[in-house]
Amino acid sequence: MAGKIGIRLQLPLMTERLVLRDFVEADWQPVHSYASDSEVFRYVEGGPLNDQQTRVSIEKAIASQREDPRLDFRLAVTLKEEGKVIGDTRIRILDPNLHPAYRLLGQAYIGFYLNRHYWRKGYASEVAQVLLAFGFDQLRLHRIFAWCDAENLASARVLEKVGMRREGVLRKNWTIRGEWRDALLYAMIESEWSNWQEAGTRLVSFSRG
Ligand SMILES: CC(C)(COP(=O)(O)OP(=O)(O)OC[C@H]1O[C@@H](n2cnc3c(N)ncnc32)[C@H](O)[C@@H]1OP(=O)(O)O)[C@@H](O)C(=O)NCCC(=O)NCCS
Repeated sequence: MAGKIGIRLQLPLMTERLVLRDFVEADWQPVHSYASDSEVFRYVEGGPLNDQQTRVSIEKAIASQREDPRLDFRLAVTLKEEGKVIGDTRIRILDPNLHPAYRLLGQAYIGFYLNRHYWRKGYASEVAQVLLAFGFDQLRLHRIFAWCDAENLASARVLEKVGMRREGVLRKNWTIRGEWRDALLYAMIESEWSNWQEAGTRLVSFSRG
């Protein structure tokens, strides 16, 4: 697929155990098994979702596949062996039409959600690392960042494990179910990605399909 930004994008992305691919309509059901789980939304706003909300969310993800240039990559996280959808992830390039600086900066944010039956098996770390590779090596981004709730230890640990640096605490940055919450900002810039690669600190080996 070639977008106007002139970059060849290769999906699906593959890690040792996972395939990250575009969503299809039928995915709404396995997505709903965790999108309806309040524990998954403990530190994030936007859920749990009812059937209809999950369907709409997948429809939106599918619609974004047709953007040209494509800025939003919300991908299904699937087990390589079984093909089962166990989560979803996103790398979203800041829209250059919203602010000229976004075009110059080449920034994107990442995020991930997994079905709780698959937590603490190292899957999110694989996901985050292949997203960084996709963002820096294929999308040619300059900076990739992520926020998480200050108490979301799992998310913060994933971001640290893949080499993203904690840049600060955003005090009372957003609300979750009506309560103002502190957020942590993590980021990696392109030169750090190169150093990370050279230092052989890659957590997982991955290939691109
Ligand atoms: C955040 C999330 C994706 C992490 O997924 P995961 O696959 O369990 O993460 P990993 O197995 O790759 O674990 C990465 C590290 O975090 C640690 N970790 C995982 N869950 C943890 C927890 N609840 N508390 C403390 N550390 C935790 C792991 O031990 C591992 O560190 P280590 O290798 O040093 O031992 C998962 O917990 C989730 O889906 N949460 C709900 C949605 C969410 O909050 N998403 C983030 C939005 S910003």
